[in-house]
Amino acid sequence: MSDAPTLPELIDMQIRTTGPMSVATYMGLCLTHPSKGYYKGADPLGAAGDFVTAPEISQMFGELIGFFFVSLWQQMGSPKEFTLLELGPGRGTLMADMLRVACRAEGFRDGLDLRLFETNPALIAEQNARLEPYGPKWIDGFDKVGPGPLLVVANEFFDALPIRQFVRGVDGWHERMVGLSDGKRSFGLSPTPIPASAMPEAVANAEPNSVLEVGLANGEVMTRLARTVSTQGGAILAIDYGYARTQTGETLQGVRRHQYADVLDAPGEVDLSAHVDFEALGAVAAKAGLTVQPLATQGQFLTRMGINDRAKALSGANPGSAADIASAKARLVAPEQMGNLFKAFCAASPGLQPPGFA
Ligand SMILES: C[S@@+](CC[C@H](N)C(=O)[O-])C[C@H]1O[C@@H](n2cnc3c(N)ncnc32)[C@H](O)[C@@H]1O
Repeated sequence: MSDAPTLPELIDMQIRTTGPMSVATYMGLCLTHPSKGYYKGADPLGAAGDFVTAPEISQMFGELIGFFFVSLWQQMGSPKEFTLLELGPGRGTLMADMLRVACRAEGFRDGLDLRLFETNPALIAEQNARLEPYGPKWIDGFDKVGPGPLLVVANEFFDALPIRQFVRGVDGWHERMVGLSDGKRSFGLSPTPIPASAMPEAVANAEPNSVLEVGLANGEVMTRLARTVSTQGGAILAIDYGYARTQTGETLQGVRRHQYADVLDAPGEVDLSAHVDFEALGAVAAKAGLTVQPLATQGQFLTRMGINDRAKALSGANPGSAADIASAKARLVAPEQMGNLFKAFCAASPGLQPPGFA
């Protein structure tokens, strides 16, 4: 048995030593602590894990995204060298489904430089097993991509990056902190007010006790990628749960074995995530010179990309699986399932016309 402190012990020790920590620091430690973070442990995906993602529901999801990128690649003149980068590729399923269809386009595979950005060693092994024939390289920084056009895909990645939370008081906004009360982890507020003028215009008139979530890490990642896309050409496609306009509301959530779980209990064993502020992401991409498409729901995007025809073709080829294919399609596009909650965001070089967006 090891005497090394557990992640909860480490977090509590840090709070006792240096005082309450921001929600972002807490979330970062819980998810990506170098040895004990949630995303450093076993594969969290699938029925036996904590959650199921769209690529794991049906191959149609990745195949349609493969067509999406072939269209952009062709619009760019079928460049002989280009980078395809996935952020948080999970088991590699999305990329494998994408490449199965995309590599049918003449020249796509020859020019492909496949890069993956991933923190979880167990998932890196799975990605390697699935994607090895395409010669993937894992990168730990976004400056490590080739000089050609850059195409980026991210499904349920941005929701996993730490957010800060602020609560509206009468004298301004106060950052929400994680501290200890009677030895138990609990939320509190920083006593120092931040003036409303320092917060987004959209929440200027927020009611007292409103919660604002700010994804600084999201902005940082998008800034770096958008600058590269802006100089080298390309596009960024991000699919995630989130909202179209910057707004107040608390969305930080914990999930464990497919059930909601307390955010403060069992650090490192619970998946923590927050809805993505797509307006903020779009503002960063636009500032870097990219054209941001009107946000689409996942249902709209997949329907415009042809999921109905794809489902029909797959069912025709496998009549015995027709009911499963129909149910997977409904799960991805039906408004009451994933169709409306998840959004598709695209920022691209000016002049490109990403399919699937109005
Ligand atoms: C919710 S899973 C989504 C996986 C996959 N995209 C899918 O749709 O199945 C989040 C992914 O992002 C990775 N991830 C989370 N935080 C990360 C970070 N800070 N840096 C790199 N990868 C990260 C996780 O290990 C995982 O692969």
